Parts: sequence; C-alpha cells; structure tokens
Amino acid sequence: MKRSPLISPDLLERIVDASDDGIVVAEQEGDETILIYVNQGFERLTGYSADEILYQDCRFLQNDDRDQEGLVTIRKALAEGRPCRTILRNYRKDGTLFWNELSITPVHDEDDNLTYYIGVQKDVTERVEAQQELERVKAEHGLD
Ligand SMILES: Cc1cc2nc3c(=O)[nH]c(=O)nc-3n(C[C@H](O)[C@H](O)[C@H](O)COP(=O)(O)O)c2cc1C
Repeated sequence: MKRSPLISPDLLERIVDASDDGIVVAEQEGDETILIYVNQGFERLTGYSADEILYQDCRFLQNDDRDQEGLVTIRKALAEGRPCRTILRNYRKDGTLFWNELSITPVHDEDDNLTYYIGVQKDVTERVEAQQELERVKAEHGLD
C-alpha cells in the first residue's frame, strides 16, 4: 500500500513524537536487539535521551531487576519471531520504578526476512498500583 502523499516524513516524525507512549525500533545484532530509533515519548517516559542509549539493548531499563516472568515471555517470542505483549518493572534514569506494558512486533521485508522489531512502551504504573492496593485490601479483610 502506498503511503499518503499528505504526510511528509517531517509530519510523520512530529506525530510519532507527540505520542505519550514510547515507540522504538530495534535490530538484531548477535544475540542482542539494539535500539536504532526512539521517539520523544520514550525519552520523556524513561528520562534517557536518544544520544545516551542508541545502539544499546533495551534491557538497561531493568537495572538489576532481572528475575521477571515477562522476560521469559519476551525471550521465547523473540526466539520464535513472534509478537508479544507483557508487563515489566522498568527504571527511569533517576532510578524510579515504572510498570511498562511492552508490546514487541517483528517486521519482515518482502523476502520474509526478519529485519526490525517495533517496541511500544506504555506506562501502566497507576493501573498496576491500584490493582496491588485492591489485592492488599482484599487480603486484609480475608476476601478473595
Ligand atoms: C523492540 C524491543 C523493545 C524492547 N523494549 C524494552 C523495554 O522497554 N524495556 C525492557 O525492559 N526490555 C525491552 N526489550 C527487551 C530486551 O531488549 C530483551 O529482549 C529482554 O531483556 C530479554 O532478553 P535478555 O534476557 O537477553 O535481557 C525490548 C526488546 C525489543 C526487541
């Protein structure tokens, strides 16, 4: 499908940058997937500038918090070239925690070679913390 001639590359970039969600593109390099593009939403969400983190694997957002179920989901999906969606604990540059609802989509070229991955990061901290509070209150009152 042809892209609309009404959307120039500049306008497209401004649209992508206006998103509150992080939008990134990564490519496979050995056993890592390294970032080759991040939008401004990613910079606002994480506190890292593109200059600081391009060409790195996005796992730096996990700090030392590496024992997470969501990572098992991601590793399996990447190994099988499938899309996935999961929630991870991630840490901003200033060290504060945020819950990241991450979706990863593989992109193939016309010869069906896997060329890139698109990642979208959504901050779901409020939702997760409200759920945790609900669980805590239920447990306190012996409800299930
Ligand atoms: C496009 C893309 C975006 C990703 N975004 C994040 C992210 O925002 N936060 C995160 O913790 N991991 C993210 N990851 C996952 C890590 O890069 C890595 O795949 C994960 O930590 C599992 O691999 P590992 O066990 O080698 O670290 C992303 C991966 C891809 C391919």
